[in-house]
Amino acid sequence: LREHEEFTKVKNIATIELGKYEIETWYFSPFPPEYNECTKLFFCEFCLNFMKRKEQLQRHMKKCDLKHPPGDEIYRDKTLSMFEVDGKKNKIYGQNLCYLAKLFLDHKTLYYDVDLFLFYVLCECDDRGCHMVGYFSKEKQSEESYNLACILTLPPYQRKGYGKFLIAFSYELSKKEAKVGTPERPLSDLGLLSYRGYWTRVLLDILKKHKGNISIKELSDMTAIKAEDILTTLQSLELIQYRKGQHVICADPKVLDRHLKAAGRGCIDVDVSKLIWTPYK
Ligand code: ACO
Ligand code: ZN
Repeated sequence: LREHEEFTKVKNIATIELGKYEIETWYFSPFPPEYNECTKLFFCEFCLNFMKRKEQLQRHMKKCDLKHPPGDEIYRDKTLSMFEVDGKKNKIYGQNLCYLAKLFLDHKTLYYDVDLFLFYVLCECDDRGCHMVGYFSKEKQSEESYNLACILTLPPYQRKGYGKFLIAFSYELSKKEAKVGTPERPLSDLGLLSYRGYWTRVLLDILKKHKGNISIKELSDMTAIKAEDILTTLQSLELIQYRKGQHVICADPKVLDRHLKAAGRGCIDVDVSKLIWTPYK
C-alpha cells in the first residue's frame, strides 16, 4: 500500500537547478517532508546536496570542496570520466542521487538502503570540475544476475549516446567479473529502447564478422548479455528459427545488412584499456 501511495502522489518539485542547467522534472520524488512546499530545488552539482533557495546554494558552493563525485575514478577517456561511488561509504551522496534520479524515473522504487549499491557516475570534465551527465546503480550482490538497477541520463544530455555508453559500461564490468548480466525489470520505454538498441548493435556486429555457426551460449560468453536477452533480440530481428526443439541462429548476410543499416547510431565506445577496476568483494 505504501508503495502505491508513493506512486500516485503528485509531483511537487517542478524544476531543479543543477550546474549550468535548469531542468524540468518528470515524476514525483519523495523528498523529506520539509521540502513539501517547494516547487524548485537547487542542487550542488558535485555533492548533490539540495537546497530551497539560490542564495543557500551560492553560499554552499563557496565552501563545498568537491569537484567530482566522491569515490574512485575508474575510467578516463579524454574529457569523459566514470566514478565508482560506494553507497555504504558515501551514504548521503547515494541518497541525494536517488532523490534526484527518481524525478526522472517512474516505476522504480527508491532504494533508501544505498549501502547495498554501487553508483557509477558518468561525468564530462573541464577545468571547473567533473560534471555529472548520468549514472547507473548496481547491487553489490545480485542473486538474479542483475548488472544494473537504475540508469539515468540527465535530460540536457540525453540522445547523445551516453545511455548506451552506460549500458556498454555495465556489460564491461560484468565481463571483468566473468558473469552474465541483465538490467533489473521493469524497464521504462526509453530504457527498453536503449537496451534494444545496444543489444541489437552488439549482436549484429558479431554476427556480421563471424564465419560459420554460432550459438546463443557463445554469444552470451562473448558479450556478457544474458541468453534470454539475446534470444528476444534475435527473435525481434527475425534471425532465429526453431528447428527440432532448438533455437537456431540464421544470420543471412542480406538480412544482417538490412538490420545494420536500420540500427541506430553506434555508441560512444568504452575503451576497456582505460578501465581500471576490480570487482567488488
Ligand atoms: N525518443 C526516441 N528514442 C529515444 C529517445 C527519445 N526521446 N531517447 C532515447 N531513445 C532511444 C534511441 O533508440 C536511442 O538510440 P539512437 O539514438 O541510436 O536511435 C537509444 O534510445 C539510446 O540513446 P542514448 O542517447 O544512448 O541514450 P540517452 O543518453 O538518451 O539515455 C535513458 C537513455 C538512460 C533511458 C534516458 O532516456 C533516461 O535517463 N530516461 C529517464 C530514466 C529512465 O527511463 N531510465 C531507464 C529506466 S529502466 C532501468 O533503470 C533499469
Ligand atoms: Zn556541494
